[in-house]
Amino acid sequence: MTAQIIDGKMISAEVNRENAENVALLKSKNITPGLAVILVGDNPASQVYVRAKVKKCEELEITSFHHVLDKDATMDELLALIERLNKDENVHGILVQSPPPPQIDEQKVIESIVPEKDVDCFHAVNVGKMLLGRTDGFFPCTPYGVMILLEKSGIETAGKHVVVIGRSNIVGKPMTALMLQKNPHANATVTCVHSMTKNLPELVRQADIVVAAIGKPEFVTADMIKEGAVVIDVGINRVPDASSPKGYKLVGDVKYDEVAQKASKITPVPGGVGPMTIAVLMQNTIKSCMMQHNLL
Ligand code: GUN
Repeated sequence: MTAQIIDGKMISAEVNRENAENVALLKSKNITPGLAVILVGDNPASQVYVRAKVKKCEELEITSFHHVLDKDATMDELLALIERLNKDENVHGILVQSPPPPQIDEQKVIESIVPEKDVDCFHAVNVGKMLLGRTDGFFPCTPYGVMILLEKSGIETAGKHVVVIGRSNIVGKPMTALMLQKNPHANATVTCVHSMTKNLPELVRQADIVVAAIGKPEFVTADMIKEGAVVIDVGINRVPDASSPKGYKLVGDVKYDEVAQKASKITPVPGGVGPMTIAVLMQNTIKSCMMQHNLL
């Protein structure tokens, strides 16, 4: 049997309809949400992601402030820009696209953003709030996007064994934390496996739900998957492809064709988790705007 596809484009469109309603509500009060997107350098994949974020802002009539800094930009330049955006009342969210070039101390940059505008949920204050189950911060875009995908697809997580593959600060760690929350749409038993895990395939095989976020093309193969498991693929990897005009194709962290023969439900790449990340980013920007105007 072939797995049912979890359509991230369709589900993100649903979230973005709610986002559009909230923007309209704010507009009726003469308030426009604003998001500052900062790209340092010319990483081609980052350029694509930043363009997608700016485009979604335009569609939702959220003001975008798009800043591109030279790949040799200094920490001082970047920190000065963030300081200005921190004070700008028209800016409710600030994000610096990751990964920045090596001269940039990413953690220091993140901590220079005021927590109230940290719509990525990368700041220690917001990560702490999230871990405590508080809702007065933000939810991390990709992990929360996965939670929404599961909920809106009618996939229960309570009491299920979820195996998160990867322990990054952006996805693996916050994903593990969200799945653990005492909440009817979480309440999972969670195992987080990574590069130092000894018996990784054996542990993944025990999962009812697998979340792959390791950044290794087609790492998860059918032999690691229990029959009927749900597979969420967070990876977006460029691999060489001579038959494509661009010279590359996008593949996930999951070997889709063979895993789809064993899973009950699976997300495609592209069109799975990717659009959800942006929908949550927009949701966080609107929430930030509402909180800054004491509307939440
Ligand atoms: N790079 C990959 N994912 C993300 C994200 O969600 N936010 C930012 N700022 N950079 C990223």
